[in-house]
Amino acid sequence: MILELESIYKDYQQDEIPVPVLKNVSFSVDRGEYVAIMGPSGSGKSTLMNIIGCLDLPTSGSYHLDGVDILAQSDNKLSEIRCERIGFVFQNFQLLPGETALQNVMLPLSFSNTPRSERKAIAEKALKRVGLGERMNFYPNQLSGGQKQRVAIARALVNSPDVLLADEPTGALDQKSGRDVMDLFHQLNEEGVTIVMITHDAGIANHAKRVMHIIDGVIGEGKYVLDENGEPVILEADGSKEVAHV
Ligand SMILES: Nc1ncnc2c1ncn2[C@@H]1O[C@H](COP(=O)(O)OP(=O)(O)OP(=O)(O)O)[C@@H](O)[C@H]1O
Ligand SMILES: [Mg+2]
Repeated sequence: MILELESIYKDYQQDEIPVPVLKNVSFSVDRGEYVAIMGPSGSGKSTLMNIIGCLDLPTSGSYHLDGVDILAQSDNKLSEIRCERIGFVFQNFQLLPGETALQNVMLPLSFSNTPRSERKAIAEKALKRVGLGERMNFYPNQLSGGQKQRVAIARALVNSPDVLLADEPTGALDQKSGRDVMDLFHQLNEEGVTIVMITHDAGIANHAKRVMHIIDGVIGEGKYVLDENGEPVILEADGSKEVAHV
């Protein structure tokens, strides 16, 4: 297992009162999987992504990334893990506007102690892999939304992370560019990249091979059904157990 989350709780403090946001979240992801985590706004998706990406720690529970106990690591070690093991893709690309596509993609290589002489070739290869070999010297404002997202994906992959974590990767894109990004994710997954994608869009989630749902901080696998009151609930994969009301 590459990701193992066990009984994760996350509370935020509001006026000194803890507000529970993630409630007993447990799941595992195997190397090479392509997983979508779906849920409505405010359900805890980004909170969960921040924990998986080691940007934030849970209030309680355990999280192992490729066998490493994340809650037992120092801040310095967590930065190293983020840099070397996780590739992040965000809705709004988060490219540096004053740097070219190539410079943006080279940046994580400088944090991972990759020899200076090798960085350019590795970044060029990553940009070619996402279909941007012709636009390496363009600045972000000279690229379309879909192209910017592909630069961000190249940047996320350049250190060969254990997992590509994407939070609403198509959220800022038109339909065609969104489809292109989904095609690219499909291709990368076929090449062995493990992907965890967060989305509120069922059409996007359906591109993944496995879909989980998060509703009000509770995660479940399986599908939505309506209960006797017409309220949507999630069923466990075996179809038997009710996990959460919307
Ligand atoms: N730093 C914080 N302090 C207090 N509450 C927070 C904080 N961050 C998030 N929350 C609360 O936690 C809940 C989940 O937020 P989160 O950002 O994880 O939702 P989300 O599923 O990503 O939503 P969206 O689809 O709108 O991005 C929300 O109710 C939010 O108000
Ligand atoms: Mg969010």
